[in-house]
Formats: sequence, structure tokens, C-alpha cells
Amino acid sequence: MLNKDTKIFIAGHRGMVGGAIKRNLAEKGYTNLLTRTSSELDLRNQADVEAFFVAEKPAVVIDAAARVGGILANNDYPYQFLMENMQIQNNLIDAALKNDTQKFIFLGSSCIYPKFAEQPLKEDYLLTDSLEPTNEWYAIAKITGVKACQAIRKQFGKDYVSLMPTNLYGTHDNFDLQTSHVLPAMIRKFHEAKENGNLPVTLWGSGTPMREFLFVDDLAEAVAFALDNILPDYLYNVGTGIDLTIKELAETIQQAVGHQGEIVWDSTKPDGTPRKLMDISKMHALGWKHKVELKEGIERTYAWFLENQENYKEVKL
Ligand SMILES: NC(=O)c1ccc[n+]([C@@H]2O[C@H](COP(=O)([O-])OP(=O)(O)OC[C@H]3O[C@@H](n4cnc5c(N)ncnc54)[C@H](OP(=O)(O)O)[C@@H]3O)[C@@H](O)[C@H]2O)c1
Repeated sequence: MLNKDTKIFIAGHRGMVGGAIKRNLAEKGYTNLLTRTSSELDLRNQADVEAFFVAEKPAVVIDAAARVGGILANNDYPYQFLMENMQIQNNLIDAALKNDTQKFIFLGSSCIYPKFAEQPLKEDYLLTDSLEPTNEWYAIAKITGVKACQAIRKQFGKDYVSLMPTNLYGTHDNFDLQTSHVLPAMIRKFHEAKENGNLPVTLWGSGTPMREFLFVDDLAEAVAFALDNILPDYLYNVGTGIDLTIKELAETIQQAVGHQGEIVWDSTKPDGTPRKLMDISKMHALGWKHKVELKEGIERTYAWFLENQENYKEVKL
């Protein structure tokens, strides 16, 4: 049984996801949260990770540490995306198993599912067809993490579980236009266009693809739910189950930001996959559901952006 002073190691606590998890657990009264920055403990280094586990013996590990990035970074650094992610998660999972960590929560992403899988994406679709080639390096690393935790459940009966979040956004997001995801990039573009006299905003593609977005604090709630409960299966999708077109997303952000100019769709740029929606019925059946709807989440993210414009995250590669 876990209690509020159970030692919980949050790997990647300075990231958008790890930071939200840390805030959530601290607010819930967890007092023994263990953290290390990558310069204090490089999770790619097996000997250092083992020594850390031997010394600290965390009862729970939440793995929110990863080499993350968009299509360009995945394309330019395939080896790092494959190898570093496997190193980070293998070192954590293996050290956890060897040091009697009771519970391990592994975070991946929806890119583990096949490129042409039916929508909404069910957990059962894992490994039924080919992956999206642009991020297969990252996806394959994440799939091996899911499988390692599944193998530990099967062989040792331990509570090692994987959560696959949909697209996330929220406070502490990356607003660097070279490397950011679509939602924070739009917030920044609409904001800067407004500041410059409501200039037109040009966005990529036709605006017709459909996407799902989850506020990062809701993912943190899902992690807290997985902490409080023993989930009966090895893999769970985490999302809202609601998607919208990129055009609707742009209009929602435009309104939240207060931009009054034109939106220009540059249809010479690629649209990407037409729809990507998670089936979240497994988490719903257990009792978890998101709380923050998109409009509120965007308003909260924009408020944070306004207060932190000097602190955009630099992406290190
Ligand atoms: N963001 C999304 O939309 C999204 C969607 C679905 C799933 N996820 C998943 O959530 C997880 C975290 O994503 P994020 O968006 O929070 O990423 P992030 O903001 O880039 O944070 C990643 C964290 O990982 C740590 N890290 C990276 N390499 C490390 C190393 N070698 N040793 C130790 N720590 C290392 C970094 O620590 P330092 O800061 O100390 O360097 C950083 O804080 C990933 O598994 C990702 O797949 C994210």
C-alpha cells in the first residue's frame, strides 16, 4: 500500500509532463518526491542509474524523462531518438525491477500505434501494422518500454503499467516556433500578430485534419489515478476522446488571444494524417476522465505564456 510519504521518483520532473505530475502530487500531499535533473543524473548512464536506485530505493517510479522532439528533430537525429530513449527507459525499468520498486508508471505517446490504424485508436492496435516513418525511431523505443513493463507484469506479477497520452499542451509548454507542437505554436503566432496590429496569421495545410488535445494537468491526474489504483491491464490510452479540426483549433486560440486579423491557410504545406483520436474507454471504465475542456485549457496556457515570455524552453540536441 502506498501512503503520502512513499518515496516516488519522478524522472524528467523539469519537463512539461514531469513538472505537472510533480505539482499534482505535491498538491495531493505526497511528501517524499525524489527528483534529479539530467545534469545531476544522466539516465542514459546505466551504472549511475543503478547506483542511484541502490542508494535511494524508490518505491514508485514515474518515467516522464525522454528525448522528445518534432518531425524535423526525429528526421535529423534518428539514432538519438531510438537509442537515448531506450537507454533512459531500460536503465530505469531494469534498476526498478532489481531494487524492488513496487510500481512503475511508463509514459509513451500515441505514435506507438500504426500509421493507418482504425480511429479511434484502441490499445489492441499496438503492433498490428507499420508505424509512421517520420517518428518510427521514437515510437519503436517507446514500444520496447511498453513491452518491458508488460513482460515484468507477466513474469514477476509487478504493477508496472504504461500510459499513452494523446497530444498534450499546457503551462510550461515549448513555444519555440522551430520545435514546438501545433497548439503552442498557434498561441505564439496569434499573440505576435495581435501585438503587431492584428497582422494576418498564416497556418500550414488546409485546416481540415482532426486532432485531440489533453491539458497536461489532466494527464497528471491520470498518473495520480494510476498511483492510487492498481490498473488491471498493461496499457492505457489517456485523452479526452474528443477531437476537432485544426481550423476549429485555430479559431478557438484566435478568440482566446484576442487576435482580430485574418487567418490564411497555406495549402501548399502538408496536412499530415487526416485524423488521430484515442479510444479512452478503458480509462473511463476504471473511473478516470479529463476535467479541463479545451477552451479553458487554452486560456490557462495563454495566461501562463503571457507571464513567461522570457522563459521559452530551449530545445537541446
Ligand atoms: N508533450 C507532449 O505533447 C506529449 C504527448 C504525449 C506523450 N508525451 C510523453 O511525455 C514524456 C515527457 O514529455 P515532455 O513533453 O514533458 O518532454 P520535455 O518537456 O522535453 O521533458 C523531458 C524531460 O526528460 C529529461 N531528460 C531527457 N533526457 C534525459 C537524460 N539523459 N537524463 C535525465 N533526464 C533526461 C529532461 O530533464 P532535464 O530538464 O533535467 O534536462 C526533461 O525534463 C515523454 O515520454 C513523451 O513521450 C508528451
